[in-house]
Amino acid sequence: MSSSRIGGTKKVSEPSCFDKKIIEEFYASRVSVREYSDDPVTDDEIRAACRIASYTPSACNRQASRIHVFRDKNVIRKLLDNQLGSQGWCDNASVLICVTVNCNYFGGNYERYQALIDGGLYAMNFVMGLHLNHIASCFKMFIRTPRREKEFKKIAKIPQCEMPVVLILGGHYKSGIVTSPKSERFTFDELACVDNC
Ligand SMILES: Cc1cc2nc3c(=O)[nH]c(=O)nc-3n(C[C@H](O)[C@H](O)[C@H](O)COP(=O)(O)O)c2cc1C
Repeated sequence: MSSSRIGGTKKVSEPSCFDKKIIEEFYASRVSVREYSDDPVTDDEIRAACRIASYTPSACNRQASRIHVFRDKNVIRKLLDNQLGSQGWCDNASVLICVTVNCNYFGGNYERYQALIDGGLYAMNFVMGLHLNHIASCFKMFIRTPRREKEFKKIAKIPQCEMPVVLILGGHYKSGIVTSPKSERFTFDELACVDNC
């Protein structure tokens, strides 16, 4: 590792002004998209999303999250079969990404859930990275039973020490408009308890 990558300190100050409207538009424009064009998602596009995800904080900066990228339709089909099928949309995707965490970075009962938290945070930023690069995507829950997980890892060639966190299906947008479920959000008043004690 080069000396520039060794820990230490850095100087931080309040960031300069953001264009809040544009940034909120960016966040608001990410929606789950389940229809994709046939154009392949390139290595560069995956790399660009990964760069955005690399800004994700992680417990003790352990950076235990990993991604496994699948573009072969036969492999994608096998993985989806393991995961209870395509739900009628996943097989449109030109890429399936499995976000995993390396569990060797976590020890002790008190860290039991940390791996999933780190992986989840990473996955979200990865999706925002895809969005920034105009790649449409939708998460798919990882269906976990011991037997299913073992078989999934065998098909995907995921090392034993890694735990799948979530799947992301993606592809380029189709031209024109596609229909997506409208997913309403709770308002601040519905979900927040502020100064409640
Ligand atoms: C962890 C996770 C698992 C999900 N699993 C599925 C899934 O299995 N199938 C699906 O169609 N959508 C899945 N979604 C997408 C959600 O349904 C979607 O994010 C939610 O309805 C909000 O809609 P939006 O993403 O368009 O804002 C999942 C989302 C998350 C965060």
